[in-house]
Amino acid sequence: MTTPAPQAAMVRVAIGPGYDVVIGPGVLAGLGGPALRAGLWDTSGPRADSAHGLEAGATQAKPTKAAVLVDQRLASRYAPEVAASLSAAGVESFVVPLLAAESAKTMEAAREGLVEMARHKLDRSGVVIALGGGLVGDVAGFCAAVYRRGIRFIQCPTTLLSMVDASVGGKTGVNLDIGDDETTNIQKNFVGVFHQPSVVLADTSTLDTLPMRDLRSGLAECIKHALIAGAVPGVAWPNSLAWTEELLPRVLAREPSALTQLIAKNVELKARVVEEDEREERPDGGRALLNLGHTFAHAIEPISHLRPDTTDASSPLTHGEAVALGLVAAAHASLALGLCSLAYAERVRQLVRAAGLPDRISGLPPAETLIERMSHDKKTRAGVLRVIVPHDDARASVMTPAHEALVAGWRAIARS
Ligand code: GLY
Repeated sequence: MTTPAPQAAMVRVAIGPGYDVVIGPGVLAGLGGPALRAGLWDTSGPRADSAHGLEAGATQAKPTKAAVLVDQRLASRYAPEVAASLSAAGVESFVVPLLAAESAKTMEAAREGLVEMARHKLDRSGVVIALGGGLVGDVAGFCAAVYRRGIRFIQCPTTLLSMVDASVGGKTGVNLDIGDDETTNIQKNFVGVFHQPSVVLADTSTLDTLPMRDLRSGLAECIKHALIAGAVPGVAWPNSLAWTEELLPRVLAREPSALTQLIAKNVELKARVVEEDEREERPDGGRALLNLGHTFAHAIEPISHLRPDTTDASSPLTHGEAVALGLVAAAHASLALGLCSLAYAERVRQLVRAAGLPDRISGLPPAETLIERMSHDKKTRAGVLRVIVPHDDARASVMTPAHEALVAGWRAIARS
């Protein structure tokens, strides 16, 4: 008899004083109670918190006020529940709706959030609650990081992508338009701060209403994690690919225990990566490994005419779909370099397909153009292109691949 998988799980992230990621259906309801208490004040007495850049004791008092920065599409669905939970704990709250769009991830959006926080007289014991996907988490976290030199924040991610990636690790920020009066020139995440949340509540029941395309997009990051599991010290995730392959059908059926298992395992991996390299400083691994598939993805994500044939949606590639294609391309670049077997590269393709993500795409520009675009990737250091390549057995490395290997990667995903 197999033991039933738990519906709730908790993963500890050991950065600074550390924080918990609580995962499971209905965990949002605990926001005003145990989660707030665990994340914000220590009932055992005062403690210095210099690791967060906060004055010792400055935020040890129970907060009396919370700013709920929420995806405006979700405000009516979740904000009342959140407010009730906070109110039951004696915490007054106010809602600041945010437009969850890349085009709205701006200094102006952050300014508006900060102004609302100031108008509501949020003091340094106050807390920001980020409720939504990665865009909301990034903007809300940035507001928390800079408001009165930094206050605490709680991440409440509502998409699979943000649960397994963006909500953990403390990246916050907005895009910067460096264009002039007539042109826009958006630099993604150019303004930001590393600011770790105090607690993360990943309520898996919020995924019940997540569009299928977004659920699949989140799976691209899970596949990426499974492909680097063997390269991350301290991660106990044997046979990560087989594990993911096996769990996938239950995840796609949104079985609560399968979602919890998937998210907990992926958060555990992300936690170990960011603990080792909080500020993405290691050149040869660490957080850079999370970039697997992304250098290819960033080259195609902005190409608005590309349409995946896995969906009838008329909108361009999602980030996750571009990452899925990037994973297949990276695996085939690795194959061309003799770093992984054909069987492994094809297994990556099959896993991407099993998740309902695109593994090929029509209308790609020539490989030369795409390689040129890759060389302008934001993660390029000193003009040298660095790509993560997967090796057999869930290992991976950072390297500058030969030109032909990159061409082989692009060919592997081009639908003629
Ligand atoms: N999403 C990549 C990172 O957190 O470093």
